[in-house]
Amino acid sequence: MTDRTTVIAIFGVTGDLARRKLIPALYSNFIKRRLPQRLHIVGVGRRDWTDETLIEHARQSLREFAAAQFNEGDWRHFQSCLSYSKVNLPHTETYQNLKDHLEALDGGASNRLYYLSVAPEFYEDVVTNLGRLDMARENGAGRAGARGQSPFWRRIVIEKPFGYDLATAQSLNKAVHAVFTESQVYRIDHYLGKETAQNILFMRFANTIFEPIWNRSHISNVQVTVAETVDVGTRAGYYDKSGVMRDMVQNHLLQLLSLIAMEPPSAFDGHALRNEKVKVLQAARAVRLCDTVRAQYDGYRGADGVPPDSDTPTYVALRLFIDNWRWKDIPFYLRSGKALQSKTTQVNIQFKRPPNSIFELAESGDPSRNMLSICIQPDEGMHMTIQAKVPDEQIAKSVDMELHYEDAFLADELPDAYERLILDAINGDAALFIRSDEIESAWKIVDPIIEGWEKDRAAPPMQIYRKGSWGPCAADELLEREEHIWRISCFDDGK
Ligand code: BG6
Repeated sequence: MTDRTTVIAIFGVTGDLARRKLIPALYSNFIKRRLPQRLHIVGVGRRDWTDETLIEHARQSLREFAAAQFNEGDWRHFQSCLSYSKVNLPHTETYQNLKDHLEALDGGASNRLYYLSVAPEFYEDVVTNLGRLDMARENGAGRAGARGQSPFWRRIVIEKPFGYDLATAQSLNKAVHAVFTESQVYRIDHYLGKETAQNILFMRFANTIFEPIWNRSHISNVQVTVAETVDVGTRAGYYDKSGVMRDMVQNHLLQLLSLIAMEPPSAFDGHALRNEKVKVLQAARAVRLCDTVRAQYDGYRGADGVPPDSDTPTYVALRLFIDNWRWKDIPFYLRSGKALQSKTTQVNIQFKRPPNSIFELAESGDPSRNMLSICIQPDEGMHMTIQAKVPDEQIAKSVDMELHYEDAFLADELPDAYERLILDAINGDAALFIRSDEIESAWKIVDPIIEGWEKDRAAPPMQIYRKGSWGPCAADELLEREEHIWRISCFDDGK
């Protein structure tokens, strides 16, 4: 832990993300004594708030979202780190207030993390204005006053969505790089901060048993399911412009896929890890429109704020291939949707059938396969389906070898993804953040699909699915072509 002063400036502190996630994550790290001791947290917003308003807001946020961790003793210290600065994001002149505010706190001699939790249309404004006021430059050792010391760092964390398509992502990268070098930039995908997503790397590269079978010779297909029960709710304004491809696939699903499909990195660091993840995305074969299913839940067009003729999908299923030696011709099936039957995120790896079956099977269907299920959430864990002899009978039945985090780690509650990610950004560890080439490679996969849906007459039509179902039948048919079926593990009510 550093003994230097660290300032965290949260742009958009009055918003929902700060209230639900960022303030609780900072507090949790604070009470675990993981944050720098000399710390200032500056809330930045457009509203006419005072320090007191922010402190009251933070207290409410913790009462609501971190009640179990809240205690008056820690809170007294935590709240003394908080202050507020008013900035009107598009207006350059108001950034001087912020600059003065920060300099009054640290005399210019501190590490600084700028956290962008504002609407994406303001990302460029904030970055450019920080540049104009010279707030991104990392100060040399001279300012630190001690010879040989590393400079004070300046870092920026940028929330998703990063761009609306490839062109806008490239232009945003350009604007960001005009002010910050890539090593100063931390693009967040909160899925990478989830314990179970991180564990994909540990499972694959801290064990020897998986690697020899982790390839096209042994694996039949890989399925990534990110299912949500919530519908669009009050977010129609944002969601209808994005849809499930931009909201979920471009980021969360492709990130999970990269972790599953990447080659072993030479080290667990941002450089080595992200090199391998980018290679996977770059090896993705262009997805054919006939390998896509798009759908809306019944009633979406009637939801508040959704145009009655909206063509925005709330569900997608895709078949994707990675053209490299490890994965050539092995289907990766991705699906995600809102208003589905259960909230679950899981990766299911289906292994090939035994070459010759000598046992009778207890179930019909597709039970003879081994399957490794990585349950990202809820009931975090891993399950391995194997075939076992049914006692007193001469038949084989699928049974599960199960790892539940709750039992293995006695963890009632896992740390929130933001806790890890904020800490990593402060510690300068970019391994779980998205690099510029990674974000652009992901858009290159997603853009042609969205464009095809909008412009190509041969594109599969929009399907409608029942709320509370598992999505449209067309998604099942997508797999049936190769005699595959969607698998759901980790709990009983799945399909
Ligand atoms: C966000 C999406 O990135 O992820 C939301 O914008 C989605 O639409 C959410 O609901 C899902 O995150 P989690 O952690 O609840 O699975």
